[in-house]
Amino acid sequence: MGAGELEIWLNHFEHHARHPRCVPHRLSDVLKADECELIASSMATFQLGEQSQGRTLLRATERFAQQKHVPHLLRIIELLIREEQRHASQLRAFMQDHRMPLKRTDWTDRIFRLVRRMAGLQLYVSVLICAELIGIAYYRALESVTDCERLRVLCRTIVCDELAHVGFESQLLFSLRAGRAAGLQPLTRLAHRIFFATIAAVVWLTHRSVLRKAGHSGRSFLRSCRDQYQFYVAPVAGRIPTQPLKASA
Ligand SMILES: [Fe+2]
Ligand SMILES: [Fe+2]
Repeated sequence: MGAGELEIWLNHFEHHARHPRCVPHRLSDVLKADECELIASSMATFQLGEQSQGRTLLRATERFAQQKHVPHLLRIIELLIREEQRHASQLRAFMQDHRMPLKRTDWTDRIFRLVRRMAGLQLYVSVLICAELIGIAYYRALESVTDCERLRVLCRTIVCDELAHVGFESQLLFSLRAGRAAGLQPLTRLAHRIFFATIAAVVWLTHRSVLRKAGHSGRSFLRSCRDQYQFYVAPVAGRIPTQPLKASA
């Protein structure tokens, strides 16, 4: 990823920081009791996952950007974290308006945070992109189990942001991997694929009531996660140039 590509991403995130995607106020906001019961706990877990301060990621990015003299990266990551925090507050506002209890902790969230804390930038981005891809599949499912217009638009809004995050993170991940020894790359890719499949399976097990209501079986949910992974993360020869991050001139 060269300085020009980083500048394009910087412009993207700066633009969305100035003009964030919002849910219009005029939408109908009726959540049926059975819908609320179905989604409350599951949604609280995802709300919790969105609200990271991103301190570990910022530290890892700062170290990396200084060592490699990579322009714009730290600012892009700051803005990305801010978008995640906006998702957290949009979800929190919806949940509070509908008297849905928030979670302060969840074992799946604790594991994600622990793995990320141990990580350098490449491992952090590898973990983050898994959460983003599965989040996209989840929010699409959540949208389909409710008639509440506000929640449906909120899910779509979050998915739009997450798709851009995944686009940026996959490009970043390819560049970070390209700087590593070629012999290690097949092993790295295999480990990442296994990690992703494990997380998708855990999300199926812990959120299956919502996912089932959305029409998924375990198999179809894992397939839809895998398809996202194939598109964004599995390298296809010639599709995405895998060059290391370029320092500024
Ligand atoms: Fe998010
Ligand atoms: Fe995201």
